[in-house]
Amino acid sequence: MPHLFEPLTQRGITFRNRIAVSPMCQYSSTDGYANDWHRVHLVSRAVGGAGLVFTEAAAVEPRGRISPEDLGIWSDRHGEALAGIVELLHSHGAVSGIQLAHAGRKASTASPWKGGKSVSEEQGGWHPIVAPSAIPFSDHSPVPEALSQEGIQQITEAFVHAAQRSLHAGFKLIEIHAAHGYLLHEFLSPLSNQRDDEYGGSFENRTRLLREVVQAVRNVLPDSTPLWVRISATDWVENGWDIEQSIALSDKLKTLGVDLIDCSSGGAVPHANVFTGPGYQTQFAEQIRQKTGIATGAVGLITAPEQADQIVRTGQADMVLIGREFLRNPYWALHAAKQLGQENLYPMQYERAWK
Ligand code: FNR
Repeated sequence: MPHLFEPLTQRGITFRNRIAVSPMCQYSSTDGYANDWHRVHLVSRAVGGAGLVFTEAAAVEPRGRISPEDLGIWSDRHGEALAGIVELLHSHGAVSGIQLAHAGRKASTASPWKGGKSVSEEQGGWHPIVAPSAIPFSDHSPVPEALSQEGIQQITEAFVHAAQRSLHAGFKLIEIHAAHGYLLHEFLSPLSNQRDDEYGGSFENRTRLLREVVQAVRNVLPDSTPLWVRISATDWVENGWDIEQSIALSDKLKTLGVDLIDCSSGGAVPHANVFTGPGYQTQFAEQIRQKTGIATGAVGLITAPEQADQIVRTGQADMVLIGREFLRNPYWALHAAKQLGQENLYPMQYERAWK
């Protein structure tokens, strides 16, 4: 029976365990570059035993940043700034993953500790922001520009170039961010996509952009590189994107060479009624895994080692992504190994912590 500390192989990559550091924005970049903060933050969690360490969302173009301080990978120099970190992640036993993202209509906002509100050009923001349709995220958000078909092609190209730079930087795994109300999710959800061309309307049309991005990215990845997609399995709003559509989408993504669906939820609209609690999104990972046979990742209020182990042991998901608990404790995976009666995983230098 697989459990949290059983290795997993996907394509040419083996994760030493099923524990991943979930992508988490650090709002600490200048002009999109990784720096010492990212190095210490990410590498600490590799030392801390995670099988996979994801960067935060890395913007594929400057206007696709959530905040001016977001990480980016829109030039070769951005990739070079990440390469040293990637090497360190590997030397400490973790697989390196990068999440490629475009914030769409939720771009150009202040980082959380500066209030999170929309920022003007004078405050370091940018305009226009882009989306499938000219519908603002909230009453306080600017109206985005609806992307032309040419603009849509450019988005796909930006994801492809970002994937190529990621490979060049040494990343072993790529995740496309299609969740949380950012650009690719905005195309999926009827709440934000009201286009009347082949990118809007039917399920087939709303999923077209994500399928095109996935296909184009898969085409430039070696066979040995796993490709994951993070989705919001539901908008938590009636007549929005939902679990049935997520299952149908996952089935299609599987045939396009996606290796795992990372199952999050929400973010499309501010007024959603989200029912949170321990493991509140794990049900989505379980349903998608059972109905389509694709590997899944569970994320969301997974904090206890026994809880994480149970998710893998009972076949709800193949990987467990941990967010805030890894902010509280970079050594969460080492602690989990001890608690679950695994062998001592502490690095030699920390060996006495095991006793
Ligand atoms: C996040 N989250 C997130 N998700 C994502 O797909 N890309 C990202 O860049 C971020 N950024 C981010 C920053 C911070 C500070 C937090 C706390 C969260 C969401 C995160 O990956 C995870 O899905 C949620 O936090 C739920 O998991 P936990 O925290 O309950 O384990």
